[in-house]
Amino acid sequence: MATFHIVEGDICTMAVDAIVNAANNSLLGGGGVDGAIHRAAGPELLAYCRQLQGCETGDAKLSPAFLLPAKAVIHTVGPVWRGGAHGEAALLASCYRRCIEVADAEGFRSIAFPAISCGVYAYPNGPATEIAVAALRRWAANSSVEDIYLLAFSTEMRGHWAAAIAATEA
Ligand code: APR
Repeated sequence: MATFHIVEGDICTMAVDAIVNAANNSLLGGGGVDGAIHRAAGPELLAYCRQLQGCETGDAKLSPAFLLPAKAVIHTVGPVWRGGAHGEAALLASCYRRCIEVADAEGFRSIAFPAISCGVYAYPNGPATEIAVAALRRWAANSSVEDIYLLAFSTEMRGHWAAAIAATEA
């Protein structure tokens, strides 16, 4: 059973097996987490991602971490919030499932997530973090993943992660 850890800070500093990037479908960089990870990893990350040929929303793809302290980056593309009637919840849950599947395939034991879709993609933070923790509890249970770090880029987000963990406790 994986253990959750809430961390308030920059995901780029996490020395874990994999950090997760909240990317866009092109995988060619952007703002937010995506911009921070590409800046910290260096230009080789973009060169590598070019040959990944994009990523579907809800899917996840692996790359090296280059200059980052993590061993790898798992790039996933969250849904843009469009009011909740366009399959957003299922797509967001799929992001977390696919990231665990990719990590498990590599035998990774530690992984750090940002709050996928909770920035530019405007997913309401409460529902997004509950979907995330519920999906992680389900899919990490039979995987190599033992430690899950949930990054909060604000105190408010720390509260959402804590509430989501409490709300989904067995
Ligand atoms: N470390 C941890 N968390 C961060 C960091 C960071 N360095 N930078 C931002 N965050 C937080 C944001 O505060 C938000 O809670 O990560 C969450 C996700 O925000 P975004 O990075 O905006 O990601 P998302 O909402 O999924 O939008 C993705 O934004 O940057 C572009 O190319 C990206 O088009 C894609 C879109």
